[in-house]
Amino acid sequence: MISIKSAKQIEKMRESCKLTKELFLILEDMVKPGVSTLELDKAAYNFYKKHGATPNFLNYDGYPATICASVNDEVVHGIPSKHKVLKDGDIISIDMGCILDGWHSDAARTFAVGKISEEAQRLIDVTRESFFEGIKKVKHGAKLGDLSAAIQNYVESNGYGVVRDLVGHGIGRLMHEDPSVPNFGKAGHGVKLAAGMALAVEPMVTAGDYHVSVLDDDWTVVTDDGSLAAHYENTIIVTREGCEILTL
Ligand code: MF3
Ligand code: CO
Repeated sequence: MISIKSAKQIEKMRESCKLTKELFLILEDMVKPGVSTLELDKAAYNFYKKHGATPNFLNYDGYPATICASVNDEVVHGIPSKHKVLKDGDIISIDMGCILDGWHSDAARTFAVGKISEEAQRLIDVTRESFFEGIKKVKHGAKLGDLSAAIQNYVESNGYGVVRDLVGHGIGRLMHEDPSVPNFGKAGHGVKLAAGMALAVEPMVTAGDYHVSVLDDDWTVVTDDGSLAAHYENTIIVTREGCEILTL
């Protein structure tokens, strides 16, 4: 069942999303050569706690951290570690969210560590742009497949791959609600969007082939061909005219 959020509920989601948005500014500043992904995780945990929020990834299906920190060929769900130290030229995808007053937020960004290659920067840019191409299609009465197809077309026309094994999702009182929000599909297909739906739209893009696998830690998702990957996610609300992006 897809829930429709009331104006009051959307206001609560806005507050939750505001924290996640602010935390990205802090973490973006910390992303530098020499920083471990565990240090980023600790800063995130402390920030959420300080603001009365609960990290929503922590203990989700046994996940052991506040953020997912995925470096280079890691696509998503990288577990923070003191041994994972960022170096010049890396790219890092940080995915995180919280529960505030019962309402979830969820967002992801890929950041450059020091000076990165032109190719890595293009991957980050295309991934972010694919999100915006997708949400151009979002409004009351549109089909979910319109969004999915727009993301896929943009990514593939830029020569990159769209991950199939993981998708976006509805969000609200739960981190993962209906519907699933794939980053691939056919325009005109899928569920009809309605004002008040809350969605986490999150293209995961690979520089090479789109096939991925999970490492032995049971979490970290990596590209099979070792190519770089990027992730960009925002929590949005469908409106009559379009959508409101809550985590940006
Ligand atoms: N944030 C991820 C998503 O967008 C979920 C992370 S799984 C977790 O759906 F276990 F790390 F929480
Ligand atoms: Co998500």
